[in-house]
Amino acid sequence: MLKIYNLLEMITMITAIRGMKDILPPETGRWQVVEQTARELFALYGYQEIRLPLLERTELFARSIGQDTDIVAKEMYTFLDRHGESLTLRPEATAQVVRAVIENRLLKGAGVKKYYTLGPMFRYERPQKGRYRQFHQINCEALGSDAPELDAEVILMLLALLKRLGLGQVRLLINSLGCPACQKDFRTQLSSYLHSKSGWCPDCQRRRDTNPLRVLDCKSQHCRELLAAAPVMRDFLCPDCHTHYSRVKALLPSQSFEEHPRLVRGLDYYTRTTFEVVAPGLGAQDAIAGGGRYNGLIKDLGGPDLPGLGFAIGQERLMEILPSEVGANHPSLVFLAALSPEAREQAFVLLQEMRQAGFAADMDFDDRSLKAQMSLAHRRGATFVVIMGEQELASGEVVLRDMISSRQQTIPQQQLLTVLAQQLRL
Ligand code: HAM
Repeated sequence: MLKIYNLLEMITMITAIRGMKDILPPETGRWQVVEQTARELFALYGYQEIRLPLLERTELFARSIGQDTDIVAKEMYTFLDRHGESLTLRPEATAQVVRAVIENRLLKGAGVKKYYTLGPMFRYERPQKGRYRQFHQINCEALGSDAPELDAEVILMLLALLKRLGLGQVRLLINSLGCPACQKDFRTQLSSYLHSKSGWCPDCQRRRDTNPLRVLDCKSQHCRELLAAAPVMRDFLCPDCHTHYSRVKALLPSQSFEEHPRLVRGLDYYTRTTFEVVAPGLGAQDAIAGGGRYNGLIKDLGGPDLPGLGFAIGQERLMEILPSEVGANHPSLVFLAALSPEAREQAFVLLQEMRQAGFAADMDFDDRSLKAQMSLAHRRGATFVVIMGEQELASGEVVLRDMISSRQQTIPQQQLLTVLAQQLRL
């Protein structure tokens, strides 16, 4: 009978969409700690929060991320709305932040403008460990300066956040992708190298002509092998880009980064400094953060000719390697166990007073036995139980039971909050 019921339930149950997962307690508590830590740190560096819609016009991403990228070509959730307009669930936030700062005229005036945004992104990728169709990013963007100090500051802030979260064992990979001028020579050389070899995947055969840099980002093992002897951007940097890159490296502690001359990012808008943070123990999807400069993007999207850079942390991947003690502390719970309808009435008033005084407190509203209420308190992890019965009501007292030591004391109800504050060291 039970089996038939389970089967029926499975048939009628509506499940979440593949690649999109529910984030549940106690995991949500850990997410909150990560987000709060990020907010506090970003404030120290002068970043302000910006909250953006999940939907944008498709053109925004097609124009900024690049038509030839996997994201735009294969992974966007795009649909026509009821008026036939093509909309896309954001696959990333940088293009959006740039759209928003232009539209809301936030780039006016001197100085670097710094914004961060947190939230879900959507990419129709093949789900696997660390790769989801809805995932979350912690995204920072600094707009308005090309100074290498800003590159270093952005990278150091990212490392500082990871360190605050107890993630010291990560590797920072950096590279420079140069500017459009030096990329031109590189493109020509790369293209002739790509044509000198055969066996590229169908996508790369096309990209050899349309956008050779994208071949460097191909995930096919065979293409990667063919790329082993391909030219690297570092050898083509113009003097300005070379100086910029050298300065960024000089500003970072030498042991904090590894140069990775073949690092290209999966988005077309990058120029100059690019970087990724990879973490051990994550398997194939080991990049927990990625970012870089995008000096032409603001202009390309119709804004002033201002440079910018930023990064995004993939929150799901970060959570995978977050030390277990982060977010493990919960406020001590005080559970009220009332043993009669009258006691329950008083306990209900006391419950509100306790919360107002800053205690995490709860009680059972159903008419359960003391034994049942005690086991409920135990399951909820209560540190103290306050027992209120007929006798206690008559004498204006309560029984306070320490759930860890199992010691009980009877105290005047009026002293309860003071005693609890002492015991819990509030
Ligand atoms: P991205 O490298 O595409 O860069 O994504 C940044 C991070 O998001 C990745 O390192 C990874 O941790 C996470 N991520 C990406 N796709 C998935 C997925 N399908 N499932 C789980 N996590 C994923 C960007 O998005 C740029 N907008 C970063 C940036 C900001 N550049 C400049 N400013």
